[in-house]
Amino acid sequence: MNDALIQAQNLHRCYRNGREQISVLHGLSLELRRGEAVAVIGPSGSGKSTLLNLLNGLLQPDSGELCVFGRAYSELSERDWAELRRTRIATLFQDGNLIPTLTVSRNIAFRAGLAGLQAHDGEALLDQLGIADTAHRYPDQLSGGQRQRAALACAFAMQPELMLADEPTGSLDYATAERVVPLFFDAMRERQLGALIVTHNPELAQRCDRILELREGVLSPWVSPASS
Ligand SMILES: Nc1ncnc2c1ncn2[C@@H]1O[C@H](COP(=O)(O)OP(=O)(O)O)[C@@H](O)[C@H]1O
Ligand SMILES: [Mg+2]
Repeated sequence: MNDALIQAQNLHRCYRNGREQISVLHGLSLELRRGEAVAVIGPSGSGKSTLLNLLNGLLQPDSGELCVFGRAYSELSERDWAELRRTRIATLFQDGNLIPTLTVSRNIAFRAGLAGLQAHDGEALLDQLGIADTAHRYPDQLSGGQRQRAALACAFAMQPELMLADEPTGSLDYATAERVVPLFFDAMRERQLGALIVTHNPELAQRCDRILELREGVLSPWVSPASS
């Protein structure tokens, strides 16, 4: 079995604002395998969120080659992408992951149900993440950090194979991040997930198998300033 979840070669993507054209990714390559966690760091505006949205099919590359689960993006229809996002690719956006009119536990059940699962381990996940008491609350009754953890529980409950996370600890205070980061990795390893994690959190990045830096439109291995 081919265990490459993502194979990207020479991806280009720009945005057009009227007559102005902003080139964000120019020649980006990346490979991510099952069970592997890769951190992506990079300055604000460098294209990290753009990259995640190319990998979940919400944006299309202008050129280059992209395969997810061994299938070329050029062969994937909108419907195929929707199916992948429903069942195999979880995206944790920077915000807006939860449906505001459903409680946390209903959000989890909804997400798992969309993925076609009869049962889910949502309660155990909430407990693990230290927010069991939020199960019957609505998203706007939670703090930013609780919302992020609830979103994480929803993402795990759909049992994805690939997790794309945009700053998953961005709203957590230091002490909570310290508690949640190991749980995040336990849950990932347990499920043999591949993950691409955009993060500014050094602890989260250091726990990944590799750290890549997105700069000037391409990804390259991050070199710690201490080692250069
Ligand atoms: N829909 C859009 N239209 C025009 N420019 C955009 C759009 N989305 C992002 N950009 C620009 O593309 C660049 C990369 O954005 P983004 O991927 O959000 O970066 P990051 O997540 O690293 O902060 C930024 O300069 C941003 O302003
Ligand atoms: Mg971003």
